[in-house]
Amino acid sequence: MYRITAKMVLISALCVLAMALAATSAFAQAGGRAEAAFKDIKVLQGTAADQLIPTMQFFEASLGVTCNHCHAADRAANTPIKETARQMISMVKAINRDNFKGAKTVTCNTCHRGATDPEANPALATANYKPWTPDSPNGAPNLPPVPGPAASQLIDNYLKTFGGEAGLAKIQSRVVKYSATNSIGIVANMEMVSKGDNSLSITHADGGDAIVGHAGNSAWQRAPNGATRDAREDEFDGLRLQDPLYVATHLKSLITNMETRRVRLNDQDAYQLRGMAFGRVPVRLFFNPKSGNLLRLVYLLPNVVGQNVVRIDYSDFRNVQGAAFPFAWVIARPLGYQTVKVESVQQNVPLEDSRFAKPTARAGGQ
Ligand code: HEC
Ligand code: HEC
Repeated sequence: MYRITAKMVLISALCVLAMALAATSAFAQAGGRAEAAFKDIKVLQGTAADQLIPTMQFFEASLGVTCNHCHAADRAANTPIKETARQMISMVKAINRDNFKGAKTVTCNTCHRGATDPEANPALATANYKPWTPDSPNGAPNLPPVPGPAASQLIDNYLKTFGGEAGLAKIQSRVVKYSATNSIGIVANMEMVSKGDNSLSITHADGGDAIVGHAGNSAWQRAPNGATRDAREDEFDGLRLQDPLYVATHLKSLITNMETRRVRLNDQDAYQLRGMAFGRVPVRLFFNPKSGNLLRLVYLLPNVVGQNVVRIDYSDFRNVQGAAFPFAWVIARPLGYQTVKVESVQQNVPLEDSRFAKPTARAGGQ
């Protein structure tokens, strides 16, 4: 049985980076199909090229493995495990088609739960083992969700933490410098730069900066060696949803199909706002009922077989020129987490628009 270890998480991160560098042109045609962007696509034919890597990451998290468990260095080469995985993808599609009206109800994780060999038999009892808890689906019916205050009220309360819409409008730009420590203790010095519909997430590294940027409706990624490519849809979505200024300034139009719930978060009452961001990414925002602060943001990026869940927990709110700003947060994903500590927040610093434009390949004197 394979379990994810810290080393595997690192290898996996390197895998994705190497992939990002190698496949500079794979996503060139936005909205392209997987079979056009990659060499040997069989069961994932007809799916979006942008979703191939997020789907691979979902496989890693579901089976508790890294890319190399299924792949040789040439990802297009066939391996026996890759063939097994193809059979599994077809099986999952058939299960969902025949039993769940085609919804992505059963995924790799439904059976695998982080292991290559799913457990066929229920676990044996231990001193702490409870076959079910009163609120588990098999122990008692799920209680119906309790509706919360109107979505517009939650949004207004949140905007009050910025000094209302007038206060928010005064924040023309923001530069946040912070350190991000990952699950295995590696610290990165990072910067989040936002201005209107533009933003940059910069990771300072010895060899040069790694940057994900967005200007209006397009996003790009630049590797430390200067190689630049268009960002995938999930990278673009993540960049915007992880920028509190972007979320706040766009909140009223960003989320559709809104509904609210009263929930418990860390043993406290909280209000949850659920909806669909960008018309396709399910999001859940959890607000403190008293202060209005955004405590948690969860988003579920779609992939071919399921969803890649990202959860951000904000804390240590401080006043920055009249607006509440979290000085700490944790970003959790199935394959690892990052703990963020903010060093400085500067607002309304002059920023040239040209900083946000996609760099021409290898520009910047690397
Ligand atoms: C559970 C097994 C599994 C894991 C883990 C996995 N892959 Fe895959 N990968 C596949 C399968 C199966 C295909 C072929 C899909 C098809 O035939 O439609 C594939 C296809 C690909 C392709 C397309 C290759 C081509 O040109 O045809 C790339 C690129 C790729 N994977 C990269 C990765 C990366 C990067 C990782 C780690 C982040 C990864 N894979 C993890 C099973 C896996
Ligand atoms: C209905 C349960 C179920 C689902 C859903 C499922 N699997 Fe499996 N998978 C299994 C079982 C059981 C085995 C072990 C088979 C055996 O030992 O012969 C297995 C084995 C595998 C293996 C071989 C592992 C190894 O290292 O030998 C791979 C790869 C795999 N599954 C990938 C996937 C992927 C990718 C998905 C989602 C697209 C998936 N599976 C969904 C039940 C499932």
